[in-house]
Amino acid sequence: MIGRLNHVAIVVPDLEKGTAVYRQTLGAAVSAPQALPEHGVTVVFVELPNTKIELLEVLGENSPVAPFLERNPSGGIHHVCYEVEDIIAARDTLKAQGARVLGDGEPKTGAHGKPVLFLHPKDFMGTLVELEQV
Ligand code: CO
Repeated sequence: MIGRLNHVAIVVPDLEKGTAVYRQTLGAAVSAPQALPEHGVTVVFVELPNTKIELLEVLGENSPVAPFLERNPSGGIHHVCYEVEDIIAARDTLKAQGARVLGDGEPKTGAHGKPVLFLHPKDFMGTLVELEQV
């Protein structure tokens, strides 16, 4: 069902510093910051030959990544995102196997303008999983 690894998301306490680490220290191409108020994050994309890394910084009062940053003050891996061809079919297959879909279970538009869903980390070995329809 799942296809390519679309991205790994890392929450960072300081997006400018995180960008500098990937751009200068690791020598990667990093996009300009993009504020996504409806997701409560500001994001940059690190473009790698085979996937992307997203650096997420808290934006606004009710950011969904704020509690994670409180538990991990120096930042950390927040989720992995796998590509699926049909997000509704994937969701229904997963639900039928007992996996929990976060929120109201309906896909939202993600950072790349495509439909996304999140799956409960307790059902996936402690890892928050995002599915993105490509
Ligand atoms: Co993501």
